[in-house]
Amino acid sequence: MCGIIAAASNRNVGKLLVQGLHKMEYRGYDSAGIALHQKDQIAHLRTLGKVKLLEEKMIQEKPKSKLGIAHTRWATHGEPSEENAHPHKSNERVYIVHNGIIENYLDLKDFLKKKNYSFLSQTDSELIAHMLDYFLNQGNSMLDSMYLTKDRLDGAYAIAAIDLEDDQNIIVARNKSPLLIGIGIEELLAASDPLALGQLTNEFIFLEDGDVAELSSDSYSIYDINKKKVEREISKIDISSQATSKGEYKHFMEKEIYEQPEAILNTIDGRVGGDDILENIFGLGSSEMFERVKRIQIVACGTSLHAGRVAANWFSSISELPTQIDYASEYRYRNPHVDEDSLFVTISQSGETADTLAALRYAKEKDYLSSLCICNVPTSSLARESDYSIFTNAGPEIGVASTKAFTTQLAALMLLALSIAKGRKKNPKLRTRVVTALRSLPDIIEETLKLKETIIELAPEVASKDNALFLGRGIFYPIAKEGALKLKEISYIHAEAYPAGELKHGPLALIDENMPVIALAPESEIAEKLISNLEEVKARGGTLYVFSDPTISMDVKSGKLIKMPKCDFLLTPIIYTIPLQILSYEVALLRGTDIDQPRNLAKSVTVE
Ligand code: G6P
Repeated sequence: MCGIIAAASNRNVGKLLVQGLHKMEYRGYDSAGIALHQKDQIAHLRTLGKVKLLEEKMIQEKPKSKLGIAHTRWATHGEPSEENAHPHKSNERVYIVHNGIIENYLDLKDFLKKKNYSFLSQTDSELIAHMLDYFLNQGNSMLDSMYLTKDRLDGAYAIAAIDLEDDQNIIVARNKSPLLIGIGIEELLAASDPLALGQLTNEFIFLEDGDVAELSSDSYSIYDINKKKVEREISKIDISSQATSKGEYKHFMEKEIYEQPEAILNTIDGRVGGDDILENIFGLGSSEMFERVKRIQIVACGTSLHAGRVAANWFSSISELPTQIDYASEYRYRNPHVDEDSLFVTISQSGETADTLAALRYAKEKDYLSSLCICNVPTSSLARESDYSIFTNAGPEIGVASTKAFTTQLAALMLLALSIAKGRKKNPKLRTRVVTALRSLPDIIEETLKLKETIIELAPEVASKDNALFLGRGIFYPIAKEGALKLKEISYIHAEAYPAGELKHGPLALIDENMPVIALAPESEIAEKLISNLEEVKARGGTLYVFSDPTISMDVKSGKLIKMPKCDFLLTPIIYTIPLQILSYEVALLRGTDIDQPRNLAKSVTVE
């Protein structure tokens, strides 16, 4: 969840470390800190709150250094405070930054207390600094001390550490938390996210679990879990600064909403050809594997789970397969029964969500036919550990609330439904229809984005309320859930979603003039039933905002009926998502919340 960055250079590193923290701030932003080696001492600056405050402190104090580590935090153990902010130190000698969770921290703290170490924070991370100091004091090198420390740590970690007695080297270690090395010009860098280093290099090495590496300004050495020196592949990735700047937009979320036509185009580009889906777009051998699939198990979290719920419907109607879907955090704990020839599918924009990754690792021990992931980050742990994968090609998504990552996940899941249908020789005509519809999707999204002005008009009404109810039926119920999630994430308005038919089984009791009801009414066989459900709301004084097919007419009294562009029914969930994203954004703007970095949340949840 947190972001870590480290640099060993021939130039001053303070500024580049803070710039890197800014790029990773979406991972966590309740406090930030930096430790800079200055030969005879280590400058240690920490602030509660956003990276900007640390930057201001840096501007005042202007610490100079060619070797340093820095951190932006999302609190797990211990409240957000300056004492709990990283880097943590031991005996003014060892300074560390850590991303992850140390599960056996209480035992290790007891051990260190008995060795006369005292703790200044409530974090699990501080013990890593003391443990390194403990082993260094026994005459071990920093590399050996890191291995000795690692041997005692249970849990997930990406660590970077510096030692007052060594002004040339940084040591880093990875286990189940993302960490990579960046090879710069006359400098070596490490970070938990390539975005942090995008301005500095396009050459990256993704460390593996168990790896420890030593970095100086002109060289690096990597050691594997058994302390054997290893060479790891260098990947060239161009992370342009354009992709990580807001451009003309006020917020990344806004930019990302309006990037969706292009993002969707990039998801389908090169994957459909003629009037059908192309072969092996999920990796070599995937088409052959799809011929055998008899059941699908989806596992995901948050917005990605909503994409899975929509897709379950497509797997049924297009691929003619049953689907089971679970929250990643629940899946392992329900003793899942695995049917023969079941395909295990994970969906994740980051590819680093701890629960989803843990579910995949668990599933790999079971009797699944194969594992497949839908992901936006090709270099992520999930992508590397799955048998097959497809990348959504949405480009970096910085806003914590997922927008283009979600709609591109839906497009990629549709490609999966079509590919499996093709492998199983099902529904050729329907496949052609959907492929044609997919091609026109970017244009329809472009048209849908023009609803902005209409939505801006109704935003103040929603912004003035404390609650909202979202209704949808069938394949639109997960979209209603996604709309409610978006609104609560960024505007802090309490929002819930229901399948409209469930209204009279409870939520109708909540309806009055203070409960805006946002409903999705596309043309479908249940449209009429949905309209009757909405009449029930109207009769009880609720204000209705209905996004509907152009053919549907109803009197919404004080609310608003907003006609949506026409689209193939199977793809309408993607289209109906767009106005809900815009609505949340405009409401949050009116309420003055921190849209890109909503309180208490993080983009990449790397703790279980
Ligand atoms: C966090 C993010 C959400 C995301 C969820 C799952 O909560 O803020 O936007 O939907 O994690 O993340 P994933 O990367 O697995 O899609």
